[in-house]
Amino acid sequence: MASFTVTALAPALGAEISGLDLRAPLAADGIAALKRAWREHLVLRFRGQLLSDPELLALSRVFGELDPPGPNPYGKPFLAEFPEINVISNVKKDGVPIGNLGDGEAVWHCDMTYIETPPMAALLHALDVPPSGGDTFWANMYLACETLPRALRQAIDGRRAIHDATYNSAGMMRKGMKDVTDPREAPGARHPLVVRHPETGRAALYLGRRRNSYILGLPLDESNELLDQLWTHATQPEFTFRQQWQPHDLILWDNRCTLHRRDSFDPGVSRIMHRTQIKGAAPVPYVEPGTMAA
Ligand code: SIN
Repeated sequence: MASFTVTALAPALGAEISGLDLRAPLAADGIAALKRAWREHLVLRFRGQLLSDPELLALSRVFGELDPPGPNPYGKPFLAEFPEINVISNVKKDGVPIGNLGDGEAVWHCDMTYIETPPMAALLHALDVPPSGGDTFWANMYLACETLPRALRQAIDGRRAIHDATYNSAGMMRKGMKDVTDPREAPGARHPLVVRHPETGRAALYLGRRRNSYILGLPLDESNELLDQLWTHATQPEFTFRQQWQPHDLILWDNRCTLHRRDSFDPGVSRIMHRTQIKGAAPVPYVEPGTMAA
């Protein structure tokens, strides 16, 4: 039996896993135990993991089939040798960015929910981190859902929202996209606002990202008002975990029941992260036990 310890990092979500060297293959019982801890804590942190890119890819495959990164603003993979790896960085080489998202804030979001089958998970490996700034936050969408005021829950019952594909979380337009002037016409998948997690069966609020979101079937101002209330509720500090990065931290998160965001940092320092993601299935609406699906 693999032996590691699990220490909660925040009341809402997040746990530190210690005692594992992720370069070594994990035994089946160790993987099962890790997945149990992951289902419970949603975000797992492993410190001091000196992973090469092939080791990061091998580790990622433990959690499922790799999902290639979404289109970045430059239209080609950052690592030609490992196109499944996305580089998140502010560093430029010869004036050309080596990665995505720059040094600004990345707003609250869930990864790639603008497609029909968003990734179920992501792994982020810190190679170079600033001495301060660039912290990443995750929020627990089970908790957000369970604590929704009744009227708000009823207002979104059975409803879907548009998950706009136009902008990334740093506010950069994706290649090939056009500016959106009316969220009702935004390109992107339409997902249920409350989804059933396929493994735990629990209900999770599923918001994607705020910009250009729209709740189908509602007048635009009503949709905006509801979305603002949902986002304020979902991202309250009590539901979050804050990650202050150290070099060679590895974070694994469940993209089906969390949101994340990143703080800005000093443009004069470098931050380099390598990221993979795992294929997921189309989100399905949560149906209260004992009721009939619409
Ligand atoms: C991301 O949104 O995947 C990037 C998070 C980060 O840069 O910490």
